[in-house]
Amino acid sequence: MTTSVEETLVLLKPDAVARNLTGEILRRIEAKGYQLVDLRMMQADRDLLAAHYAEHEGKPFYEPLVEFMESGPVVVARVAGHRVIEGFRSLAGTTDPTTAAPGTIRGDLGRDWGLRVQQNLVHGSDSPESAARELALWFD
Ligand code: PPS
Repeated sequence: MTTSVEETLVLLKPDAVARNLTGEILRRIEAKGYQLVDLRMMQADRDLLAAHYAEHEGKPFYEPLVEFMESGPVVVARVAGHRVIEGFRSLAGTTDPTTAAPGTIRGDLGRDWGLRVQQNLVHGSDSPESAARELALWFD
């Protein structure tokens, strides 16, 4: 099977930055063999986050999630590789860090802190369509 190089959007969320885990997370992405094509740290504003999470508006976690994401700086990465969209989500582990598999970013580095919002360290685009939309939103 041959595959073409894809790009995905990875966000290192405010908890990853606050806990000084950015180096460790970027190391795991590079160690897997993916390439960091572009990288920046920024403070996301509400308009950007509302656009990014538009499909989740109205869900119970939406408002706390947006508040959490604007609570501090995030690291924004454009990451490239064959099947990187699927591959990064596998590296990240499942949404809930308490039950994410050991060996994954969330499973090894995340936990429940008893807060209103799930602090799960990273975001990765979930499809080629999302990746194109999210990369345009955060980088263009
Ligand atoms: S859904 O409803 O199945 O689409 O949800 P899911 O794909 O698991 O998650 C969508 C994004 O919402 C985040 N999420 C949460 N954040 C905080 N608290 C809670 N309870 C929560 N539930 C889901 C989840 O991490 C996804 O955001 P990203 O930025 O993609 O990680």
